[in-house]
Amino acid sequence: MQAAVVAMGIGDQLILMSNIQEIKKRRTFAIISHPDAGKTTLTEKLLLFGGAIQTAGAVKSNKIKKTATSDFMEIEKQRGISVATSVMTFEYRDLLINILDTPGHKDFAEDTYRTLTAVDSVILVIDCVKGVEEQTERLMEVCRMRNTPVIVFINKLDREGQNPFELLDELETKLGIRVRPLTWPINMGASFKGVYSLYEKMLYFFAVNKTKIERDVAKINLEDVELPSLLGQRDADQIREDVELVEGVYDPFSQEAYQSGELAPVFFGSAINNFGIKELLDTFCDISPLPQPRPSDTRKVDPMEPKFTGFVFKIHANLDPRHRDRIAFLRICSGKFERGKFYKHIRLGKDIRFSSPFSFMASDKKVLDEGFPGDVVGLYDTGNFKIGDTLTEGEVLQFSGIPSFSPEIFKEIVNLDPMKSKQLEKGIQQLTDEGVAQLFTLDLGNRKIVGTVGELQFDVIQYRLQHEYGAKCRWVNMNISRACWLTSSDKAILDQFVRLKGNQIAYDKDRNPVFLAESDWMIRMNQENNPEIQFHFTSEFKTEQLV
Ligand code: G4P
Repeated sequence: MQAAVVAMGIGDQLILMSNIQEIKKRRTFAIISHPDAGKTTLTEKLLLFGGAIQTAGAVKSNKIKKTATSDFMEIEKQRGISVATSVMTFEYRDLLINILDTPGHKDFAEDTYRTLTAVDSVILVIDCVKGVEEQTERLMEVCRMRNTPVIVFINKLDREGQNPFELLDELETKLGIRVRPLTWPINMGASFKGVYSLYEKMLYFFAVNKTKIERDVAKINLEDVELPSLLGQRDADQIREDVELVEGVYDPFSQEAYQSGELAPVFFGSAINNFGIKELLDTFCDISPLPQPRPSDTRKVDPMEPKFTGFVFKIHANLDPRHRDRIAFLRICSGKFERGKFYKHIRLGKDIRFSSPFSFMASDKKVLDEGFPGDVVGLYDTGNFKIGDTLTEGEVLQFSGIPSFSPEIFKEIVNLDPMKSKQLEKGIQQLTDEGVAQLFTLDLGNRKIVGTVGELQFDVIQYRLQHEYGAKCRWVNMNISRACWLTSSDKAILDQFVRLKGNQIAYDKDRNPVFLAESDWMIRMNQENNPEIQFHFTSEFKTEQLV
């Protein structure tokens, strides 16, 4: 970095200095959880503390109710909500905080995984009654893939939950991450009295408080003789004992270990009661990482570099089917993004400029004149973008780390109206560009197979094909449970395998060969019989083992 600065002209150095000020202010993160753990409630309370909203209940839950499988109005409504809450920006202390929303519904998990490529850290919400749930584990796997720093918030302490020590053990064993409590609860459920902050050495008293944001606080040393009169002798003894145990069992908190994704600080609270939120937010501001460097196919891009770069991590279709334009969400990785300036679209090799990019201040769309690393910019798009596309000031590089994961459900799409085959083709291409699902093509007969992580996606695609493209389709179930991307250092061997496997080989949208397998057993067998071929479970070829 130092050498790069010396090599720069004076103009670039000035740009760099002002960019650095802006970068240091940015914190971009996502809140993730298994559905119902309290992600929406926590998001809302953070916005309340940040002054971005004035009343509780202002953030709509971005979740599709369990009954919505065939309720398309609900899906459309949810699409509206999820545009409005995709990015929520607010100022707190002297920081500019961007919360990236992630859909809670399991069927939209891939959207969540991609959003995680655009953040610098996450807050993981756990329900203290339910502990680590299925979706929690999968989300953490994705965080671990790129060492994303994680803070854990254990929610719903106003309910009778699991023993906190057991919860922490469960976090460590099921999520594969070391934890370090920074607050500790005094009882739970009906006798929940508050938390002791091990970070600030402060006792916070709990009160049922759904709307206000002030709290009852006592700055007290645990050895203080006043403690029993504040908590009662039994609880005073218990918290002293618990804290001694915590300090004995867990290593001291290390910001470095947290920022490198090895250690997760843990907080306890009750989002609905505004309890434990301010402590969480303040500590987050103290310890969370600034916008981080991002890997590309040629080099690591540092946010402090003066030249602009960014990538598209999400595409949202227009809600009005008469307008085909879409919104592409661009994460700025380095330099300064400016309205009206030409940038190079690397995949298409052409220069594009944006006359009305927008930001998401307080869930309001505002035209954005300039943006900095960590910011997310909304770009109106008429079909130029695919997920993962990179924009630069001219340098040819492609951001990596935005993989497609193997889908779990596969169906062949069958056109029901031969007069509309062009519309169907276009629709399915565009919807899969948006990342709604993945498209695989079998060379034989040009059959199209759609892969998703949830059944709901097929309903969404069928509905949107009909309403936005005027094309009717039906689905034929396929006996496939995994898609593996194939590579080999020996092209002839790969070509031979592809020929031999016939209809078990399809191609993804970038013409990479993909093996469609009925079972994990079948993959293992093929792996054993074909040691020169690598089977990959994401399109980025990073996770090598079956998960
Ligand atoms: P999600 O986005 O992670 O899916 O969860 P969400 O915030 O929607 O919360 C799920 C349910 O848990 C909601 O109840 C919410 O009110 C409740 N909840 C959130 N935080 C707490 C807490 O600290 N304590 C308790 N006891 N409950 C909490 P719901 O009945 O599903 O919805 P609603 O009718 O209350 O909106």
